[in-house]
Amino acid sequence: MKLLALNASHRGERGITARLLSRLGEGAQQAGAGFETLSLARLKINRCLSCHQCQEDKNHLQCVYNDKDDARFVFDRMAEADLLIFATPIYLMTMSGLMKNLLDRTYSTMDISEVRLMGGLIHHHVNPAISRKPFVTLLVCSNLETLSWRNAAEYFRIYARFMETRQVGLLVRNASELFAAQNAEAMQRRFPKIPQVWAAFEQAGRELAERGAVSRQTARRASQEVIPVPFFGLLKRLPWVRRRVVQVLNDPSFWE
Ligand SMILES: Cc1cc2nc3c(=O)[nH]c(=O)nc-3n(C[C@H](O)[C@H](O)[C@H](O)COP(=O)(O)O)c2cc1C
Repeated sequence: MKLLALNASHRGERGITARLLSRLGEGAQQAGAGFETLSLARLKINRCLSCHQCQEDKNHLQCVYNDKDDARFVFDRMAEADLLIFATPIYLMTMSGLMKNLLDRTYSTMDISEVRLMGGLIHHHVNPAISRKPFVTLLVCSNLETLSWRNAAEYFRIYARFMETRQVGLLVRNASELFAAQNAEAMQRRFPKIPQVWAAFEQAGRELAERGAVSRQTARRASQEVIPVPFFGLLKRLPWVRRRVVQVLNDPSFWE
């Protein structure tokens, strides 16, 4: 089993998405799978120009950027993998631009003249080796409210339907900054569920290696609230509590 993670954080390996992926990768490798992460921030992925040359007879399924940037390289790696992990931070309530740019570029691998209606969606031809791979979605965001990531989660649910593939796990890691390595011990003292989350990411990797899907229980544990929810209820209602909490969290002595 070969897992390929596409990390769409604009911070690349310095971000929290990379840390979470690395833990998942450890679990996958322990269970015998191959695991690789491509950090899109390190690659050159031009945006689709919507020029439609890839759809013309002359340049059929050839992008004008072929060999001029790294999209083809990424597609080749996707084609070699058995399972993909679309890992994106949430930027303004949706996936990052890097992730969307890459997905848009798969357009040049699809013949949009081959159309059919199925299950309320108009489908067109896709390249199965690239777009019909089962995938896991990892959404990483700093806020606590579900509205931040719901749009992206819905996108990937419909993406799976459109591509006629399976989303074999949805992992949502909010309060992401708590998973930065600095003051890791202090964080874990304050938020005792943090180690459970790390363990769940490792377990998710093992499950992907062993059965090609993340169990509901593991997805729940990886995505659980680490800041107690009643506390969050208060935050939402009382702006002054929120201000005070931000002050406390920003005070270095809190983490000592
Ligand atoms: C441009 C931008 C927009 C963001 N928008 C949101 C948002 O809408 N909701 C949220 O919870 N976090 C938002 N964040 C925070 C990131 O999702 C969070 O810092 C995440 O950990 C980034 O992933 P990374 O650490 O792998 O880079 C935003 C960050 C940036 C840079």
